[in-house]
This record gives sequence, structure tokens and C-alpha cells, in this order.
Amino acid sequence: MTDTRENWTSRSGFIIAAVGSAVGLGNIWRFPYVAYENGGGAFLIPYLIALITAGLPLLFLDYATGHKSNNSPPKAYRALFKGGETLGWWQVCVCIVIGLYYASVLTWAGSYVYFSVGQMWGSDPEAFFFKTYLQTSEATGFDLRFVTNIFWPLVGIWMLTLVILYGGVKKGVELSNKIFMPLLFVLFTILVIQSLRLPGAVEGLNAFFTPNWSKMMDYKVWLAAYGHTFFSLSVGFGIMVTYASYLKPKTDLTGSGLIVGFANASTEILAGIGIFAALGFMAVSAGKPVDQVVSGGIGLAFIAFPKIISSLGSGADLFGILFFASLFVAGISSMVSILEVPIAAMQDKLKWGRKKAVTIIGGGSAIVSVFLFSSVNAIKLVDIVDHFINNIGIIGGALISIISIAWFKRSALIELRNHVNRISTIQLGKGWDFTLTVITSMILLITLTMTIYHLITEGYDSYSMSMQLMFGWGCVIFCGVIAVILSQMKDREEL
Ligand code: ALA
Repeated sequence: MTDTRENWTSRSGFIIAAVGSAVGLGNIWRFPYVAYENGGGAFLIPYLIALITAGLPLLFLDYATGHKSNNSPPKAYRALFKGGETLGWWQVCVCIVIGLYYASVLTWAGSYVYFSVGQMWGSDPEAFFFKTYLQTSEATGFDLRFVTNIFWPLVGIWMLTLVILYGGVKKGVELSNKIFMPLLFVLFTILVIQSLRLPGAVEGLNAFFTPNWSKMMDYKVWLAAYGHTFFSLSVGFGIMVTYASYLKPKTDLTGSGLIVGFANASTEILAGIGIFAALGFMAVSAGKPVDQVVSGGIGLAFIAFPKIISSLGSGADLFGILFFASLFVAGISSMVSILEVPIAAMQDKLKWGRKKAVTIIGGGSAIVSVFLFSSVNAIKLVDIVDHFINNIGIIGGALISIISIAWFKRSALIELRNHVNRISTIQLGKGWDFTLTVITSMILLITLTMTIYHLITEGYDSYSMSMQLMFGWGCVIFCGVIAVILSQMKDREEL
């Protein structure tokens, strides 16, 4: 029955797990393509501003919330303000939705480690990715025909994730991160060094580091920067609240937060450097400017990179394996953290044992994920769900947490600040309150309003309205409805 709540073995165990969560597909798969689509280097400045004005302040808020209450998001927010439990469940549901498609992209990364041997994508990586591997449907509507290529690896990813989660906080999450993070560091460092040695790398770096000021006037670039920051830092959707709740009472929260934030941003910028260096190589080989060598988008890692790898000649296999293995290793530790949120929430609320929670929540998510994402529509679903859940699910949850605490429950904000300052080396001053209350909340409010306005008036990309309704708005509604229902349920000890 009841498991006593677990702790990390040490502060460094927590930091490794938190870095493992933050550094993920967001850094190596998502950041480069979002940056590429939003002006390349022009994206760096909004990204850094988003990190400082919203990412880090919210990271501290998440840590304080989780650590002070020693509970996962529903109970942690409930302890802070009335109605907080609904917000907590909203964040839990956002994690469930992210987990469904995160596993899918992780599967592609794992498959591409194998495809790298002998560059199985042949001379046309784009056709290989969309047609041969994903067997993407031409139909614009709902099509869930089954693709065996994806089915088995996807089942494998879920089994690996669940095995780690069955191990619990110490022997599963923490231990796996202690293996994955050093491995990632080695793979990733070799990869970036290899990229920088390619002829033409400098062209790519110039494109990455030269800000295009006109692009920065485009508010969509700013929306993308704020949308990406939270996903990348794992804040605003319950992960850091949950991870901090496993910390022992006396621990340096701000010091740990800065390490995690710095490690995450550095990996992201290094991934950008590695990828743009490789794009520079391709541009010079093709005699074209960097922004014209490949199309951006969700397939950047799976189309552009294979193209680059194939043109390397000797060492191509190794380069491919390094890149996709980095992606895979970074992703699996984040996948574990995403699933940990609903599992911990059910354990806290219903006093389920670890195994029961992993089997029901993890197993249930696995079934839905395999059903939806081993279909001929996988990539379209990933794109739609990722867009809606990041820009509405995460931003919305982050905004409500900030407004509810900083605007309507000042005493809670001050309590949280005092709590952090009692145990941390770097003190949070009134500047933190001010940033959250005025800057972060206003920016998020504007970001969210504009995103919703655009999605309603223009829709997302060229996807059919039925697909957007079903999988985009559908996910948002799912999170809202389930959050309201779960927050009405009594806790196990009250039953
Ligand atoms: N923070 C995780 C990532 O960047 C979810 O992939």
C-alpha cells in the first residue's frame, strides 16, 4: 500500500536528475529547428532574454513550491492557494500529453542510431524519413493506419522508461541519470568538436551568431522563444515542482537552480553551434547560403543531419551514431522526468504504491502513445500536439501559477521567498517578486493571448481543421476537463 515518500540520495543526485530532465530533445532536436525557423542567430537574443525574464524566475518558483510542500503539483499548489489543485492537475495532464509524443520522437532518434550504420537513408534522406520510415499519410484528415517500423521501437522505448520508473526515485530516476548524463556529456562533446572541424563550419557559426535585427521585430520570434524556454527548462509543467519535492529539508535551492539553468542553456547553445557548424559545411559544399541548404521544421534533425552525415565520407557512421545517440540519451532522461509527474501525483493523492502507479499511469500512457504514434500520421500528430501543448498547455499553466501566487496571494509569494532564502546561498530579493509579478506575467499574458488569437483566426500551419480540433484543441480540452474532475476527488486519507 502506502510507500513512504522517497528522497534523492544527495543534492548532487538531485542536480544530475534535474539537468537530465532539462537537457533533452528540447535542446538537441527542438532548439536548432525553432532557431532555424526563427531567424537562426536572431533567435539567440530573444531566447536569452526569455530565459532571464521568465525561465529562471519560474524555475525558482517551481523549486520553492515543490520543496516547501514536499508534494507533487496538485497538493503543492493546493497548499498555496484556493483552487490550486486544479492547476496542479492541469500540469500533470500536460505532462501526460507531452509524454505521449516525446516517446515518439525518442523512437525516431533510437532508430536513427541504427540507420546511421552505412547511412541506410541512402541518397534522399527526406524521402527516407517521411515515406520509407514513417510512411506518412498523404491524406489531410484522420488516418491511423499502423506502421510496423515504428511500432516495435516505440514499444521498446516505453518498456525502458517504465523499467526505470519502477526502480523509484533513487534506484530508478537518480541512478539512470547518473549513467546517462556522463554518457551524454562525452558523446555530445565529441560531436560538437567533430562538427567544428568540418570545412565551412565558420560559415554556419556566422549565421548562428549574427543577429538579424529585422527578424527581432517579428513578434512571432518572441513567441517562439518564450514557448521554447519553459519546455526546455522543464518548468511550468510540474517537473521541477515534483523533483524539488524529493529534496531533503536543508538544501541550496537557488544554487542548484542556477547550475541547472546554466547547464541547460549551455547544452542548447552548444547544440546550436554543432548543428549550425554542420549546416555551414553543407552550405559551402553546395555553394549556397546557410539558410537555403535545408528546409527547417520538425524534420531538421532527421533530414538535414543525415544529409550532412552522408556527405562526410569517412567517419560518417561514427558521426551519425554520436548525434543520434546523444539525442536518444538526452531524451530518455527527460522522458522519465515527464512521466514521474503523473506517477508521483497519483501516489500522493491516492496513496498508490510505486508499482501500481507506474503500471496504471505509465502503462495506460504507453498504450495510447503506441496507438496514436505508430500510425501513418505520427509526424503530423507530433507537430500539432507539440505546438498546442507548449504554447497553450505549458505557457497557460505557468501563467496561472504566477498570477495566482504573485497577484492574488502575495503572502504565499513572500513565504516562498523566505523559505528559499532560509536554506539557500544566493538570496532572492524583491527583484524576483517584481520580475514574476510584472515582467514575467505580462509577457506571458501577451504571449498566450496572441497565440490563442492566431490559432483561432489562422489555425496552425496548413493542417486540416479537423486534425487541429481533435489533436490540438482536443489536448487542451482534455487537460482542462481532467484537471477539474481530479481536483474534485477526495484524497485517499480523507476517504
Ligand atoms: N526539458 C525537456 C527537453 O528539453 C523536456 O526536452
